[in-house]
Amino acid sequence: MESSNAKNILLALFVVTNLLVVATLMIDFSPILAKYRNYPGVNEAKQESFQSAVTPVDRVEDKENIVESVDWRVYALDWWKNEMLSSKDPNWSGRQRMHDELKHGKLWYDESVENYFIHKLEEHQFPSNCSRNHWLAYQPMASGLLSCVHVLHPVLMMAMMKGEENTVIPVGYFLDGERTNPTYFGCGELRDRHLGCFFNLTSCRIEDDEMRYGALIRKSTSNQPRGVNWDYFMNRPTYPGGMTVLRNWVPVWPRPLDDDVRIQKNSTKPKLLFWNEVRKHGSVGVYGMGEAAVETVWEDYIEFAFTSMLSSWMLRQTTARVKEIANQIMAKYSDSTGRPLWKAPVLTLHVRQTDKSLEDPFFKKYKRYRNVTDYIKEMESFETKYKFEWPSIFLISDSGSAMQSLAEALNGVTGLPDSANGEEGKRFIMYDWTDDKDLIERTGGHNYIPEEKKHSAQEHFLASLYIIERISDYSIVAYSSNVGRFISELIGYRHRVACAERLGPSALSIDDCWTHD
Ligand SMILES: *[C@@H]1O[C@H](CO)[C@@H](O)[C@H](O)[C@H]1NC(C)=O
Ligand SMILES: *[C@@H]1O[C@H](CO)[C@@H](O)[C@H](O)[C@H]1NC(C)=O
Ligand SMILES: *[C@@H]1O[C@H](CO)[C@@H](O)[C@H](O)[C@H]1NC(C)=O
Ligand SMILES: *[C@@H]1O[C@H](CO)[C@@H](O)[C@H](O)[C@H]1NC(C)=O
Ligand SMILES: *[C@@H]1O[C@H](CO)[C@@H](O)[C@H](O)[C@H]1NC(C)=O
Repeated sequence: MESSNAKNILLALFVVTNLLVVATLMIDFSPILAKYRNYPGVNEAKQESFQSAVTPVDRVEDKENIVESVDWRVYALDWWKNEMLSSKDPNWSGRQRMHDELKHGKLWYDESVENYFIHKLEEHQFPSNCSRNHWLAYQPMASGLLSCVHVLHPVLMMAMMKGEENTVIPVGYFLDGERTNPTYFGCGELRDRHLGCFFNLTSCRIEDDEMRYGALIRKSTSNQPRGVNWDYFMNRPTYPGGMTVLRNWVPVWPRPLDDDVRIQKNSTKPKLLFWNEVRKHGSVGVYGMGEAAVETVWEDYIEFAFTSMLSSWMLRQTTARVKEIANQIMAKYSDSTGRPLWKAPVLTLHVRQTDKSLEDPFFKKYKRYRNVTDYIKEMESFETKYKFEWPSIFLISDSGSAMQSLAEALNGVTGLPDSANGEEGKRFIMYDWTDDKDLIERTGGHNYIPEEKKHSAQEHFLASLYIIERISDYSIVAYSSNVGRFISELIGYRHRVACAERLGPSALSIDDCWTHD
């Protein structure tokens, strides 16, 4: 899917007046490692996003009547937090047993840790003065949206870990000729193709800075290699008002070479140093273990924590249009007063098919996609083991027929996936009914989404994820897909728990050879 090119590294230093613009780019859309390991993350600005995105929780408690929140965006949270509600739910104790068991031994962090992290991130990305900051210009790869998001995370982390005034600026000037790229149609006057088309990532605009904009344009039209590597960026001083153009993919950094590292205060690794800084601002621990356990926690858990904070933050920074679509989808699943018709806890089922065959371990082995009944078997075995039922299920898939089969297997429906909602003994099924669920299948794969539909298809995709982040309590996904990993991060963030194995408190990955790394 990703084009790979020469890996020539060449540095060019521009001294422009008294600015030092390090603008070395590398033409390198090297293939994403099939097994992506560089995972750092950010957080979610909860309070603030709740204020902006949500009407006040409308709950009246008296002795007998608890009127639940009418806003779908806080409904699940309400169920988690409010014992008055949850204790009355016959499904609560089973779900609770499951949750407690799965989070045992996993890393948790509190709201202060998260707030500090987000605060730091926003300080870098929304500086009081953009001209003064050093810019780290970064172009996405020609790959799927969440693959681009996951690769942006280490870049954001690098800027934060550098500990100086560094701002990551998404640029897409060099991403040309990618007609088959599924992700970008282009945005802004320049029809530029980068993650800024979907997320409000920074207040600094490259177009507003003639000097740096000029340097970038010169770079894009020259034959010079593009971009410095990450080590180069980390190990050299950066200059106020300057710019580093980062090549887009380097697999080694900031991933430690050895997994067997203790999380000690004297670690010199930037990520661990940063973790040790962040955790000072709140509390962290390991469920079911003594205080010392956090000093030896698996480093992948820390990565997951960072990553899930970043993923959720990005989703909060998505566009008003995406949030509007989410509201539209959920309106169908509410009564006329807006009160949700679904019940917590919500299970998300994610099925990735269409053109995933080359990366799907099941497909590679059996030359076909997994039968969706496998997902349902996993679901049922949780339910049997912990003695509860998921009353509501959110479906997300690039395959309309997979969604249809799931609904059929769950509820015996042959019409629309959600057509049995409200019937006795049926699960309440939700999905993005506002879009053409068969588009990708019909066109033959993500890369073939017609140009003019790309942007809207991505907005709908993000809207489903936005809903999942708000309502989902658990998920059964495929970690071989960035989408599956992203969903796990979102739910992990919601529970503020980090886990890297394929079975954890936010997700079960149906791929047996994949962990979340
Ligand atoms: C921003 O920083 C630049 C460079 O240091 C400075 O010239 C400019 O006056 C600053 N702008 C504001 C609004 O402080
Ligand atoms: C972008 O995000 C920042 C920080 O969250 C916020 O202050 C700003 O208003 C947002 N801008 C837009 C256009 O949404
Ligand atoms: C941290 O410092 C202690 C004492 O100097 C040393 O024994 C230990 O090996 C160091 N740990 C790391 C990871 O460097
Ligand atoms: C999927 O599983 C169901 C139920 O076990 C079965 O009826 C169906 O034939 C299976 N489909 C495939 C393609 O294996
Ligand atoms: C769990 O919820 C479902 C759907 O609301 C309900 O039918 C079922 O009875 C509940 N399970 C238990 C153990 O009460």
